[in-house]
Amino acid sequence: MTTRIIPVEVFDLVVFGATGDLAQRKLLPALYHRDQAGQIPQGARIIGVSRRGLSDADYQAVAWQALEEYVPEKERKPAEVDAFLKRLSYVPLDATQDKGWEGLAKVLKPGEDRIRVFYLATSPDLFGPICERLGKNGLVTAKSRVVVEKPIGRDLESARAVNDAVGKVFPENRIYRIDHYLGKETVQNLMALRFANALFEPLWNASHIDHVQITVAETLGVESRAGYYDTAGALRDMVQNHMLQLLCLVAMEPPTSIEADAVRDEKLKVLKSLQPIVAHNGANMTVRGQYRAGASAGGAVPGYLDELGSPSSKTETFVALKVEIGSWRWNSVPFYLRTGKRLPERVSEIVVTFKPIPHSVFDDGAGPIDTNRLVIRLQPDEGVKLWLMIKDPGPGGMRLQHVPLDMSFAEAFGVRNPDAYERLILDVVRGNQTLFMRRDEVEAAWNWIGPILDAWAATADLPKPYTAGTWGPAAAVALIERDGRTWHEDDAS
Ligand code: BG6
Repeated sequence: MTTRIIPVEVFDLVVFGATGDLAQRKLLPALYHRDQAGQIPQGARIIGVSRRGLSDADYQAVAWQALEEYVPEKERKPAEVDAFLKRLSYVPLDATQDKGWEGLAKVLKPGEDRIRVFYLATSPDLFGPICERLGKNGLVTAKSRVVVEKPIGRDLESARAVNDAVGKVFPENRIYRIDHYLGKETVQNLMALRFANALFEPLWNASHIDHVQITVAETLGVESRAGYYDTAGALRDMVQNHMLQLLCLVAMEPPTSIEADAVRDEKLKVLKSLQPIVAHNGANMTVRGQYRAGASAGGAVPGYLDELGSPSSKTETFVALKVEIGSWRWNSVPFYLRTGKRLPERVSEIVVTFKPIPHSVFDDGAGPIDTNRLVIRLQPDEGVKLWLMIKDPGPGGMRLQHVPLDMSFAEAFGVRNPDAYERLILDVVRGNQTLFMRRDEVEAAWNWIGPILDAWAATADLPKPYTAGTWGPAAAVALIERDGRTWHEDDAS
């Protein structure tokens, strides 16, 4: 099966931070794949910008190296790689300085009428200054748009400051705040599942759903990002953005259309109806953890504090939360969230557990009747499983089994699953903001996260230690088991 290509207009994409980790690991491979698929029109240009004094050829060599490293060999065809590299040019520029912008202006001049995308793959403290300098140097045309990555601030106040600075130069409908989770295939499938099927929506409420779990588990530690991570922690790094966005897509009311603002209006309502977690309920609703030395991904790994080289860090590398939504639809339906580094496996999934049947007609010999569960798996093996009770096949009386109706997307469709960035970059060119966060969403999310951070800061408690390669501190198990529920395990029967 082949994927459908939707053509886009000719564009110039200017990547600030062009030699950085994000550009090499994600942006260049994503652009290569789109080019390979024939989606990047003839004449479209990718212009790398960074401080390093490189020539076009030097930058093409950097990009070649990035493709070697981050694109699987079987997907790299020499002729296609060559054709892609020819699209790349480079402008040396220190974006922290006022001078030196004429080089970029000169390169952009011949494409003045084109769609122009400024992708800020830089440190967030440069978002405002770069936008200001783009404006001052006359580089922001009517068809220009800007892409910014998380973190947008570290609290409500700093997020507002970043949004103000970017908003002085670009109107909201030309600001694309990336949350790459929204570009993941299964996340969009969640929308298809909910709104293109008649089956689920009537049951999608407190009368029929017992609770929802969202897990984003990683085996990696903090590696080279320890400096950033230690100032952020799991709550800021994963919950404020990715996990709350997933929660919104599960919990939102059906939007009137798939238009950007229709969807974002509904997500915003969810964010605004999250029940506050503050000092008095913080201990019951949250668990923080920090990994110690252990074994992960097949080998011995050091603890967080050793990796960081600082024995006193209180930064959490794991967090579990019980979240409540104040609305008719979700009254008394808890959403349990957990995410962490150095957990036993890399898995991201949303599990919707339905209520038990009201009365069993079967006798004890049939065995226990488990609840229906809808498991939406984002990674590593994307797909949807619907756990049902069925009869054990064959004679021997009525015995019941809990089994999944399994829809694995790779098997079902046999196509390469595009990386989230492939879809998102092209959405920017198309001018489609549905999968990007609006300013008010980001700020509403910070508004809810802030009191949790304050509640933690107000206690003398430290994050609870957990051994690398385990599912976080025991308190995270207690968080859900106190309510008579358990974290979902895929082989549960
Ligand atoms: C990033 C976080 O936003 O998401 C990282 O900053 C995290 O800490 C990453 O590792 C996870 O993304 P994915 O797509 O690998 O699940």
